[in-house]
Amino acid sequence: MTSTENSISTAKSSVNLDLKSRNTFGFDASAELAYEITAAEQIPHVMDEITEKKIPWRVLGSGSNVIFPKFLPGATLLMNILGIEIVQTNQEDSIIAAGAGVNWHEFVSWTLERNFFGLENLALIPGTVGAAPIQNIGAYGVEIGDYIQLIEAYDAKEHIFVKISKQDCHFAYRNSYFKQHPYRFIVTKVVFKIPKQWQARIQYADLAKQFLNNSSPTAKDIFSAICAIRTHKLPDPKVIGNAGSFFQNPIVAREQYETLILKHPGLVSYPDADNKRKLAAGWLIDQCGLKGQRMGNVGVYENQALVLVNHGGGTAEDILGLARCIQDAVHSKFGVKLEIEPNIF
Ligand code: EPU
Repeated sequence: MTSTENSISTAKSSVNLDLKSRNTFGFDASAELAYEITAAEQIPHVMDEITEKKIPWRVLGSGSNVIFPKFLPGATLLMNILGIEIVQTNQEDSIIAAGAGVNWHEFVSWTLERNFFGLENLALIPGTVGAAPIQNIGAYGVEIGDYIQLIEAYDAKEHIFVKISKQDCHFAYRNSYFKQHPYRFIVTKVVFKIPKQWQARIQYADLAKQFLNNSSPTAKDIFSAICAIRTHKLPDPKVIGNAGSFFQNPIVAREQYETLILKHPGLVSYPDADNKRKLAAGWLIDQCGLKGQRMGNVGVYENQALVLVNHGGGTAEDILGLARCIQDAVHSKFGVKLEIEPNIF
């Protein structure tokens, strides 16, 4: 590996950078050329170089929602813009800005330590602040989009920095304007708006169970409960490679739901917009008898069927092969198509 570093405002670049520790599946992978972005102003120069070389490129946060091939050709931008700042606080809300490279869970902890409440349900979600809005991360009844004021990004098509308001982010379930326009925006900073008025959100079944004897939990109680649930249910990527939920929960039309529930009375589902239903993909996979099953070096996690794991030595092809078997099994039993959640590079 060789490195060059010219000045503070120039991104450090490396060739043949090992990415095994930079993807939570723990796949063996390397990047042909990697740039470490520590400040937004480094991006235009890096993108000019990429345009000039006519090479493919992609952005990488902490690699918690990606499937890597063995070799990533062209340029990989490693987002490492740090810093959290209280921009403004008044009677109604607090505006807090965080760099794209800040670790998401550390950011949630930082807000709670300073008594800004609201993000506690999103504790322990792996990844970075900059990656979080791309798929509109969500858990236990809360989505990050609810708390975003605006996003600062570099528009790689127009070659300018832009500020994108919450409305223009088009947040939806595990979806956003950014996800709809891949290879266009490089998120540099996320600006959050956190209302002073706070209400506990513990209606989600798993969470409600934790508070049967405590009807008025604090945000910090909820934070601790979420950390306990997630630690119990989801595998720690440091121990067993994974990328969290591997499939989205599929959304089906009311009629399809009604046919399904007649045939499968135990079907787990939630109401969704436009009279549709969101089905629990983990339940569908579990019902196919796939929980805990292994296929070579990869498998379905034993405590949560929505999570696929790398037992060691697995590759992107292995995981995608297993994913296809799961999709086929669910489709033939329920007639429902499962969509892969992580980004495939
Ligand atoms: N279920 C099963 N068997 C399983 C897994 C789940 O029967 O193996 C059932 C559960 O009993 C439950 C239902 O399916 O009734 C839903 O399961 P769970 O509460 O674990 O949530 P999920 O729908 O599987 C979603 C998110 C998670 C998030 C949780 C909590 C998606 C794709 N996943 O999972 O997000 O933490 O809800 O809100 O929406 C992630 O995106 O990486 C992630 C972990």
